[in-house]
Amino acid sequence: MFTLLHINKVLYSLGSGRFISDDPMEIIHSHIAKQPILPCEVNSSIPGPLSDLVMKLLSKMAEERYQNAFGVMADLQHCKEQLKEKNTVLPFPLGSNDVSLKFNLPYKLIGREEEMNELILGFEQMMEQGKPAVTAVTGAPGVGKSALINEIQTTAALPLCPVAYADST
Ligand SMILES: Nc1ncnc2c1ncn2[C@@H]1O[C@H](COP(=O)(O)OP(=O)(O)OP(=O)(O)O)[C@@H](O)[C@H]1O
Ligand SMILES: [Mg+2]
Repeated sequence: MFTLLHINKVLYSLGSGRFISDDPMEIIHSHIAKQPILPCEVNSSIPGPLSDLVMKLLSKMAEERYQNAFGVMADLQHCKEQLKEKNTVLPFPLGSNDVSLKFNLPYKLIGREEEMNELILGFEQMMEQGKPAVTAVTGAPGVGKSALINEIQTTAALPLCPVAYADST
């Protein structure tokens, strides 16, 4: 299934030449962990708000992206009208017509910076030493052990490396 994010990643790659590599692992790493360069920096003829629109579609945080295609269409339409009338696009609040069709609880890990940093540090030390290592994350049921590991695997910009974890449940 293609989402707005997938389509935009293809458009961004085609338009800017970024994210392109011969190495499939490097492409995946770029998509997950690297912050893309602003399209208006790659091509100065792209208006700032249009560049911001592309970046909003590409956001790593799901809740910061457009929630549905009608929101994107409204903003693109606004850019088109401004270009036609003024030959430029003045800054405007993106996503003001973007309403989710579903009720979504925003997902954000709260108050686990210290634990995240500790695990990332351990991971970096393991990489430096070049030897596999084991770390145990313990705590009461439901305290957020799996959520912490998941956060590290999906959002922390760790170098590509196989990480395995076992859950007691
Ligand atoms: N710090 C946090 N910020 C936001 N949500 C959290 C946090 N900690 C836990 N949660 C949420 O609480 C719920 C339970 O967390 P999780 O499944 O990670 O707990 P667990 O310690 O792995 O539980 P179990 O011992 O049953 O495996 C999940 O929905 C998770 O997203
Ligand atoms: Mg768990």
